[in-house]
Amino acid sequence: MPPQQLKVNNTIHTIDVAPDTPLLWILRDILDLKGTKYGCGIGSCGACTVLISGRPARACQTRLDEVGTNPVTTIEGLSLDGTHPVQLAWQQVDVAQCGYCQAGQIMAASALLASNPHPTDAQIDAAMSSNICRCGTYPRIRQAIHQAAESAAKK
Ligand code: FES
Ligand code: FES
Repeated sequence: MPPQQLKVNNTIHTIDVAPDTPLLWILRDILDLKGTKYGCGIGSCGACTVLISGRPARACQTRLDEVGTNPVTTIEGLSLDGTHPVQLAWQQVDVAQCGYCQAGQIMAASALLASNPHPTDAQIDAAMSSNICRCGTYPRIRQAIHQAAESAAKK
């Protein structure tokens, strides 16, 4: 297979690996974007969540050839300077404990707010339920999502 072009965080890269290579390996090992974490490797934890065409996706379960021309956004590309409303709310609420799951949580939360700017608690729980946090930061995640929704509404 010829090298494939992959758009990540608004930059187009030429990737020369097998087409069935998981996106997570490409992000971390080739593009050195280590914010996206490897947790379970079987699609069950959400630590590897990135956005593909704005929708949350498991990078560990997404092959390069499945990405195609769809743009990928990682935690490094969510904002240039860490000022995305979700990132700011995460800091203000001090959501993280060990932090391992948090990039995936933030990407899932940002996708939720992009599609539903004012989610209810039940909608937050439904959207975030497949992103596992072994530190149990779920109440702060919910609080930060509400806070991000409020601050985005004021802009
Ligand atoms: S590492 Fe991808 S879902 Fe757990
Ligand atoms: S903050 Fe530790 S796993 Fe979520």
